[in-house]
Amino acid sequence: MNWVGFVRLMKSIYDKGVPDIEWIEKQGLLAVKIGQTFALRIDFLDEETCTHLSRLYSHNSNIPSETVEELIDMYTQEGWRENFEYIEKMPIASASVGQVHRARLRSGEEVVVKLIKSDFTKNFKKDVDSLKKFLKTAIFLYPKLDKVADPLGILKNIEKYTLDELNLINEIEHGEILKGIRDSNVERYDLSKLKFPKIYRELSNENILVSQFIRGETFDHLLQQKKLDYDNLLELFHIHGFYVFNIGTFHGDIHPGNIILSGEDLYFIDTGAMSSVGEKIQTGLLKFMENLSYYNYEECAKNLNEMAEVEINGKKFDAYREKFLKLYEDFEGKTVSQVSLTRKMMETIKLGVNSGMVFEKGMYPIIKSLMYLDGMVIKCNPTAVLMEDMRRFLGELKK
Ligand SMILES: Nc1ncnc2c1ncn2[C@@H]1O[C@H](COP(=O)(O)OP(=O)(O)O)[C@@H](O)[C@H]1O
Ligand SMILES: [Mg+2]
Repeated sequence: MNWVGFVRLMKSIYDKGVPDIEWIEKQGLLAVKIGQTFALRIDFLDEETCTHLSRLYSHNSNIPSETVEELIDMYTQEGWRENFEYIEKMPIASASVGQVHRARLRSGEEVVVKLIKSDFTKNFKKDVDSLKKFLKTAIFLYPKLDKVADPLGILKNIEKYTLDELNLINEIEHGEILKGIRDSNVERYDLSKLKFPKIYRELSNENILVSQFIRGETFDHLLQQKKLDYDNLLELFHIHGFYVFNIGTFHGDIHPGNIILSGEDLYFIDTGAMSSVGEKIQTGLLKFMENLSYYNYEECAKNLNEMAEVEINGKKFDAYREKFLKLYEDFEGKTVSQVSLTRKMMETIKLGVNSGMVFEKGMYPIIKSLMYLDGMVIKCNPTAVLMEDMRRFLGELKK
């Protein structure tokens, strides 16, 4: 993507009407990441645009599978292959940054080998560099741009977390952190159903990752076949909720393709992206959710304000409170297909922002999580009243 592409991308996001998802995907990884970032910015885009852009999270781009052999030669030292009985040539999955192949070690262990698509890192870096140059010139010519939108700040942020994702060592390390959190909380909270695949560190590096093959099916697959049991989804809320609300560090990409159901167990995979959120949002949001699950809207209105870095009060708060109550007028008892929780949450935050509240950036990874979770419930059990089903977890999560 060159600067013309970038200008066109921005125009399509800000213009009336919804942006063209396929076109964005064709522009490459950087364009997709920029689109994904804007999908969460309900504070300055309209909901329709955000919802539409969120389709970029389920990247289904058909990138031709590169030959495995070439990639392996590029990424590994001589002798690496001798550890394997075989590595299948056809990938079992090919997604945003990598592709995954089944394999078996000489020891008989069934594994998967994940490879980074070589061109991706290179093109992504090239695109970021050229866009940085363009933005610097643009800011030089229009200094106001920097103050209003901080485009370089946004770009640097995208660069950082995408490069994190493109380096598989992060997937190993973040997986370890999430596992460590589970293990050090066994006494406190039942996380017995949460599992992580074993990682073969000595066979892995930045570009290649060998891990235990998990026999089972992804939530994504089960949802498509209408075979996912709602209880499994509630278990996911129970687990993910613990990380978000009680720890503040959580799997940053909790979409249905990254959870494998194996028997009764839920495996978290693809742990490259890890998100964290500050204490204020953590506790405030838990209170908000709990009050919402009992439809205590007056309290909810206060809780949202408590979550903000910059709170509002006096007349400003009263005006906001009134609009808040109006927003939730018909919420009670509604099923997930009648009212989308993500949408409601986005509207709520937008109301807060428009009323003068300022939230920390950590808010956006939570919206992303919610978007995924709520999307799963709609597919799995469209008549569920999720807020009411969550009461028991939210009660348990209180410190
Ligand atoms: N350890 C594993 N066992 C079984 N299947 C796996 C495993 N790891 C990945 N997969 C399959 O490959 C897909 C993509 O893997 P993932 O690690 O999520 O890569 P990506 O970063 O490309 O999304 C998963 O959705 C799942 O179907
Ligand atoms: Mg994945």
